[in-house]
Amino acid sequence: MEKGNKKGAKRAPPSTSTSNGGSTSWEHLAQWYDGWVGEEGSKHHRRLAIPTVLELLDLQPGEKVIDLGAGSGVLAPFVHATRAIYTGVDLSPSLLGYARRYHGSQGRFLAGDSRYLDRVIGPEGGSFDAGVFLLSIQDMNPLEEVLKSAAWALRTGGRLVILMTHPCFRVPRQSGWGWDEGRKLRFRRVDRYLTALAVPLKPYQGGKAGVSRSFHRPLEDYINGLGNCGLLVDCFREVPGYSLPQAKLDSKADQTAREEIPLFLGIRARKL
Ligand SMILES: C[S@@+](CC[C@H](N)C(=O)[O-])C[C@H]1O[C@@H](n2cnc3c(N)ncnc32)[C@H](O)[C@@H]1O
Repeated sequence: MEKGNKKGAKRAPPSTSTSNGGSTSWEHLAQWYDGWVGEEGSKHHRRLAIPTVLELLDLQPGEKVIDLGAGSGVLAPFVHATRAIYTGVDLSPSLLGYARRYHGSQGRFLAGDSRYLDRVIGPEGGSFDAGVFLLSIQDMNPLEEVLKSAAWALRTGGRLVILMTHPCFRVPRQSGWGWDEGRKLRFRRVDRYLTALAVPLKPYQGGKAGVSRSFHRPLEDYINGLGNCGLLVDCFREVPGYSLPQAKLDSKADQTAREEIPLFLGIRARKL
């Protein structure tokens, strides 16, 4: 929250930096990310994340959708196929370049900070029927600013859909799989959960390690954060990982763990 902001006073210029240093833009990761996601989306996108987002959005022809942290625009063709109208916003010029090249005919892509949408899309506040964070909200900080800005963009009754790695089971660097030999059981270990964390992204080939951060927050931060912005949760989807072809090689215990411990969480909230 910004402090000391008198009515009518100008807000501080938008900055992409986070309270703990560093930018949340994936500009320096753009080439690597494009290699993983490409034009069609990763298999996680195609099989799990995008179908869940589309189910929760339940788009109607002519509805206006804003995709926050759109990256290379992987959601655009799916929104376009429903005959809804797509707008993507992202901080990374290079990812926006990929987005326009791959999907420029399926929507518009705007450069900007999701925390300051009033500066990105001008006077169009309250004009979107739906907003989406597709695997992006855990790359944005602070959460209060991001949710407040998304709520600003939505019309009354509009819905916001968040698709993220499940914060209860997938705490970056603080959770993992374990094996109980006595019970022949694959289990999920969670070392920390309630404390919010800013975790440097793992080093990747050819890049500078630790420049971007991923933000872990407990579930209550999301639900209460939405409520504080007048966004009321009306649907939850907990999405398990899928059985890969090579999962045939997995033991029954591995398959059970995959099916029982969700990988993603989808949340839909409506603006009161
Ligand atoms: C993991 S990528 C996901 C991209 C896309 N939604 C997808 O599923 O492929 C996270 C994206 O969020 C963007 N991002 C991070 N902070 C942002 C902010 N404050 N405003 C707009 N975009 C932001 C990054 O630049 C990056 O493209």
